Order: sequence, then C-alpha cells, then structure tokens
Amino acid sequence: MIHSIDPGILFLQEEDVIKAGALDMKMNLAVTEQVYKMLGQGQIYNPPKVHLAMPINSGINWASYFNSMPCYIGGSVNVGGIKWAAESKKNSTIPGIPYGIDITILSDPETVLPFCILDGTLITAMRTSAVAGVFAKYTAPSNTQTVTLVGAGVIGRTMVMAICEALPQVKTIYLSDLDLSKAEKLAAEYKETYPQQIIPTADAKAAALQSQVIVTETTARQPFLDQSWIRPGVTVINMGSNEADLDVVMGSDVIAVDYWDQIITYESKAAAQLYKAGKLHKEQVVEIADMVLGKWPGRQDDRQVINCSSLGLAALDIMIGYQLFQNAQKQGLGTMLKLWEKPLWE
Ligand SMILES: NC(=O)c1ccc[n+]([C@@H]2O[C@H](COP(=O)([O-])OP(=O)(O)OC[C@H]3O[C@@H](n4cnc5c(N)ncnc54)[C@H](O)[C@@H]3O)[C@@H](O)[C@H]2O)c1
Repeated sequence: MIHSIDPGILFLQEEDVIKAGALDMKMNLAVTEQVYKMLGQGQIYNPPKVHLAMPINSGINWASYFNSMPCYIGGSVNVGGIKWAAESKKNSTIPGIPYGIDITILSDPETVLPFCILDGTLITAMRTSAVAGVFAKYTAPSNTQTVTLVGAGVIGRTMVMAICEALPQVKTIYLSDLDLSKAEKLAAEYKETYPQQIIPTADAKAAALQSQVIVTETTARQPFLDQSWIRPGVTVINMGSNEADLDVVMGSDVIAVDYWDQIITYESKAAAQLYKAGKLHKEQVVEIADMVLGKWPGRQDDRQVINCSSLGLAALDIMIGYQLFQNAQKQGLGTMLKLWEKPLWE
C-alpha cells in the first residue's frame, strides 16, 4: 500500500507536523477512539513499551528515561512504526526544552522500509490528553459542569483542549499548578479560545471538591491526591505516574485503565503496584477498548467514583503520525531524505 522499493524518507519537523494538522484535537479524539476499537478487535499488535531508566538501576527515581514503543497496525491501515520517547527531570529547569521529547519512525510492513520520520513530541502531548478526553466522555457524571485540572505544563495545555472538546457542557475549568504563574499564563492564553471559564487556582483540592471531574497531569514524584479530595460521583483521571494514592484507586467503584497488558509492566503506575501486590486483577478493571466498543455498560449512577489512568499507547503515536504523513504528502511538506542511493548489499 505505502511504497515501492524507493528508499525515500519524508522528514517532518515540528513545524511541518503542525501544518499537517497535529493540533487538531477533534482529529486526535476521533483517532484515539478508532485506535482503541482496533486494539479491542485484535487488529493492533502493541507490545508493552521497553523502559530504560537512567542512571542504571534508578527505578522509579529516574533522572531521565527512554521508552522504546513499537507497534503494528493491521486491518485496512497496515502500517508499522516505533516511537522513541523520552523525559528528563532536568528539562523542567531548563528554559527552551520540553520535559518530554519524542521522535517517531513509520515503516512499510511489506518492504519494511521506513518512509517517514517525524517529530513525536506534539503528537504525544495531543494524544495523551485525547486519551483523558475519551475517559472523560465515557465516565463523567451526567451533571458535569466543573472540571479541575492539576498541572499546567505541556500536557496541561493540551488537556484544556481535550476537556473542552470532549465535555462541551462544562462551564468552568479550574487550573492549578505548584507554580501558579503557569496556570495563570495558560488561563489567560485560552481566554478567547473556548467558551468555558478557565480559572487559575492555588488550591487544587478546594477546586476538586467542587468538580465532577478531576484530571491530573503533573510530574509529581509523590501522591498528593488522597481520599480527602474525593466526593461521591467524581471521575478522577490520572495521566502522570504518582498522583493519586493507592487507597484512592482501590476505593473507587470503577477502576479504568488505557491498556491493562501494558500498564501492569510499568512499576510507577498505581495499577501495576496493586497488581504486583495481588490486590488488582484484569477482571476488575475496565479498559478503554471496552468503553469504545460498548462492552462496558457505562456509569451506573452519579454517585459512583471512577478512577482512570493511562500509560500511553504506541499505536496512537503511529496512527496519528501516519495520518499526518498523509496530510503532509498532500500539502508538499517536509524534507526528503534517503536511506541509500543504491543498497551496497542485497
Ligand atoms: N499517560 C501518558 O500517555 C503520558 C504521556 C506523556 C506525558 N505523561 C505524563 O504527564 C505528566 C506531565 O507531563 P508534561 O510534559 O506536561 O510536564 P511539564 O513539566 O511540562 O509539566 C508538569 C507540570 O506539573 C507541575 N507539578 C508537578 N508536581 C505538581 C503537584 N504536586 N501539584 C501540581 N502541579 C505539579 C509542574 O509545576 C509542571 O508545571 C508527566 O508525569 C508525564 O510523564 C503521560
């Protein structure tokens, strides 16, 4: 479908990825649902990511890490790829560089030739919040009018987009961060973009207690969200790793994860810790695939507490990357590279 034996590789830097439509949250939400449907239908092979924490043996106390995230998308899509994802704690203190930096390679499954290399940083930011948007769409109580977002960094920025798109009935979004000025700046930036009122706050817990949905997207290394934040009926969505304590997760009426087979391999995730302790099993959780395929009946009432968490799926990066590659081709974007003029040995 994709290629001949042409060794050309289209390189798309971040600016090209933007022109190709990466910042379209509606597209990200739609593709996210499509990917989880295909995953649930067995059309995607997405093995757990391989996590390289640095320094060696630093475990969950890493200073930086690389994740190798391969996948193959079958069905009518038929594309392979890998995201080389990374985060560095130090980057939070260095102006001019994001905390997370990612690059993606797309390959033709037939000839196995790579045909596109693209910035994966923006795609990651957009699709991560799209996952929270999908969680919110399927789990938010029917009376949701107020949402609290904790974390006003890169994912906080895309989270505003995702929540406004996924829950258009929301009237108020509280936005908090340890660094209040970041929340204030982001709220001011979004003032004219969405009809929702975005209110920066230094008191995330007070805001959470007035909200029907709480989303956390922080770099916290210690859980800060305990039972005192939880009111009946709330949906809590944790996108970072160490945000809600284990009692909050286990005390929830419904525990939802993006993809069980992968999340239990990642030691900093609450679901993995609970699984390892023998307290949580696959039969007890709902996956996004169950939601989008209609296998989960949904929220039973507006008093259920629902906890959602995600680790992030390579298939999202590859599917969205492939969509952007196709858009870029139509628009004539990017720079052509070549793997070789003629392969030396064949
Ligand atoms: N699940 C996924 O698929 C996925 C994908 C990408 C990133 N993430 C995670 O999202 C999180 C945010 O990433 P980012 O790129 O936005 O980072 P970032 O550095 O741009 O922003 C993080 C923000 O969190 C704030 N923060 C840290 N601890 C806090 C606390 N206790 N309370 C309130 N605010 C706090 C920081 O001040 C900062 O503004 C990270 O944990 C990252 O690993 C998850």
